[in-house]
Amino acid sequence: MYRILKGVGFILGGLVGLAALALGVVYFITEAQLNKTYQISAEPLVIPSDSAVVARGKHLVTTVGLCAECHGDNLAGQTFDEGPLVGLISVPNLTAGQGGIGRTFTDTDWVRALRHGLHPNDKPVIDMPSNYYYHFSDADLKAIIAYLKTLPPQDNQLPPLEVGPLARIFILQDPSLLPAQVIDHSGPRPAAPEPGVTVEYGQYLTHFCRPCHGENLAGESGAGAGQNLTPGGELATWTEADFMNTLRTGVNPQGRKLDPKMMPWPSLGKLSDDELKAIWLYLQSLPPVADEA
Ligand code: HEC
Ligand code: HEC
Repeated sequence: MYRILKGVGFILGGLVGLAALALGVVYFITEAQLNKTYQISAEPLVIPSDSAVVARGKHLVTTVGLCAECHGDNLAGQTFDEGPLVGLISVPNLTAGQGGIGRTFTDTDWVRALRHGLHPNDKPVIDMPSNYYYHFSDADLKAIIAYLKTLPPQDNQLPPLEVGPLARIFILQDPSLLPAQVIDHSGPRPAAPEPGVTVEYGQYLTHFCRPCHGENLAGESGAGAGQNLTPGGELATWTEADFMNTLRTGVNPQGRKLDPKMMPWPSLGKLSDDELKAIWLYLQSLPPVADEA
């Protein structure tokens, strides 16, 4: 008996040792990923300041950009305390007030953060959807930056972001949590279709639906995931008017209320009629993917 117990103790000790070793490895690998510096030359964009461009930027930031969803009201930043295992998600103040990045960011710093997922010190930003913002055309990215530069300064000094052990495991599982890892930094710029009620422009706008509805828009599984938007899912029986009405009112044709904390319809519902029509055209053109039973 004594020897068996001793054996169990030995195994348990071994398991604890292995777990500690595994965590050490996770820490070591993610520390290298978080501290990697990316030497890229961002596209030099000249940021205009005329009011039409600023208005376009505001429209993008407050609709498909969904910046306030994470960066908080007035884009003054906010923190999400996810506990010691995950960490403290500190989402920066984008304005030029105390503690705001707008105080120091150059035009190139904005381009590098939004399009390449990089901090001014060349290290990767965490959990910021730059791999999708990568798809903003030069004209739209310029408009977004032009608008951000006009934000009224808000004083809000935020604590630094803390990456807990569980967050490190997430980062290992999903490389896009450090979007710089999945962006093709030197690839040709993606298509920038002219705004209009076209399939192409609809496709352009749906890049900003994909973080939640999946790369092929056929839905994702898990908490916070959006449904299948292809004609193989619930949308098969919808009309264009049904679709527009769902995004404008947050109630789908089946009478189900969409949770605005999960599906940001109050922001997306501010897209223009033409923009929503273009998205609908594109969604209808997709190959139907059946819902998983
Ligand atoms: C899903 C949440 C989320 C959304 C949506 C989001 N951000 Fe972020 N953003 C973050 C987080 C988290 C950070 C901090 C990353 C870090 O410190 O590594 C960040 C960092 C940034 C940075 C880099 C700041 C720095 O210090 O280098 C900029 C610039 C930025 N965001 C702008 C925007 C803009 C503009 C939008 C909308 C077009 C936007 N973000 C949308 C979560 C988000
Ligand atoms: C931040 C994540 C997120 C983004 C971005 C997002 N969605 Fe959603 N969407 C969801 C979630 C989650 C649901 C399910 C909400 C619920 O059932 O309460 C949903 C539901 C929907 C529905 C209702 C589907 C049904 O069967 O009732 C439609 C339509 C929709 N989204 C369209 C879009 C479009 C179009 C875009 C881009 C312009 C978009 N969504 C962007 C998360 C998102």
